[in-house]
Amino acid sequence: MSLIDWLTKGLERFYEEIVRVLGYDRLPSMDDCDKLPYTYATVHEIQRYGNIVPFGVFHETTQHTKLRGYDIPKGTMVFTNLTAILTDKEHWKYPDTFNPDNFLDDNGHFFKPESFLPFSLGPRVCLGETLAKTELFLFVTSLLQRIRFSWPPDVKWPDMNGIVSVVRSPEPFNIICHSRGSTE
Ligand code: HEM
Repeated sequence: MSLIDWLTKGLERFYEEIVRVLGYDRLPSMDDCDKLPYTYATVHEIQRYGNIVPFGVFHETTQHTKLRGYDIPKGTMVFTNLTAILTDKEHWKYPDTFNPDNFLDDNGHFFKPESFLPFSLGPRVCLGETLAKTELFLFVTSLLQRIRFSWPPDVKWPDMNGIVSVVRSPEPFNIICHSRGSTE
């Protein structure tokens, strides 16, 4: 499934689950994750596919290091290929396409594969991980609860490679926002 396919088909399942569990008015809380497996899986897939820090944050060895048989001299710049981990064909059911099923088991329950490492890991793991994960779930869920997003007709799809630097960001794009339950 491409992202375009998902935006036309999967998005409805996303809306349906949010409205069924939360209704139109009750704002989500982190206690709702378990009751919203498809939503929670979709938020994780957005992060996996978004891959916003493709090579982690650069570090430098402070001393000569031997790692798995490789000699790494002091002063070597080291970065983590998070892109390779987040799209590893041996670890993901759908490595190259947008598909929340990457985070759902056969019974539709949420699970997190060990290769989900957008915040890296180890002593220098992202300090904002908990805050970022909480914000992503609450913001995406409450936006989708209230707004119906759609793609303007006859508009060219942006290059999904985005603008790549230390952080990967999307190209500018336009999207239609309908307040749910109204025609505005
Ligand atoms: C989706 C959002 C975010 C992603 C994907 C992300 C990802 C990362 C990654 C990959 C690193 C490098 C880890 C390493 O050096 O191995 C990092 C470092 C860091 N992040 Fe984030 N981050 C996010 C949001 C945030 C937020 C919201 C904050 C602060 C409130 C934050 C604070 C930091 C800090 C302080 C470091 C440096 C940690 C250190 O070097 O010890 N990040 N982040």
